Amino acid sequence: MAEAGTLHDAFIDELRDTYDAEKQLTKALPKLAKASSNAKLRQAFESHLEETQGQVERLEQVFESLGEKVRGKHCDGIAGIIEEGKSIMEEDFDDTTMDACLIAAGQRAEHYEMAAYGTLVAWAQAMGHTEAAKLLQQTLDEEKAADKKLSELAEGGINQSAADGPHSEEDEEPEAAAAGGTRKSSSKSGRR
Ligand SMILES: [Fe+2]
Repeated sequence: MAEAGTLHDAFIDELRDTYDAEKQLTKALPKLAKASSNAKLRQAFESHLEETQGQVERLEQVFESLGEKVRGKHCDGIAGIIEEGKSIMEEDFDDTTMDACLIAAGQRAEHYEMAAYGTLVAWAQAMGHTEAAKLLQQTLDEEKAADKKLSELAEGGINQSAADGPHSEEDEEPEAAAAGGTRKSSSKSGRR
């Protein structure tokens, strides 16, 4: 019978998964940047691309600090998130709605990474891999900052511009519907 795997084995496995996820993101981020209409959003994706390239190198340092070979293992999770992002980019949305959707897609990826790095830092600390923990924490901080930047762009105007754009449902239903009582029987009442 094979020997049972340890937390160290699981840690290396997660590192390989995350290494692959970062590499996938270096290919996806330029697409998000290209699809952005808002200049600040495009710039946010571009600067996170540069950061992500640094994160790939930082993971290589982590492998080295552990005396492990640098190796990736296909990350299905981020592949799925990237796939969903691609489907959104194929939609025919107006420019600001597309920007809001690109932010949503980007933040899904950031949160996935934050979860991964949060675990990696905690495990590295628990096993006394101080150097690895320090490096992983640096990336975790960058992911959190990137996520915050996207929230600021969304809440600082992009969401509102998208909401202020043509809104078919609202156009059909005047204020009376929102006030209650006089709703037309054919209206989509489930939405309120
Ligand atoms: Fe990353």
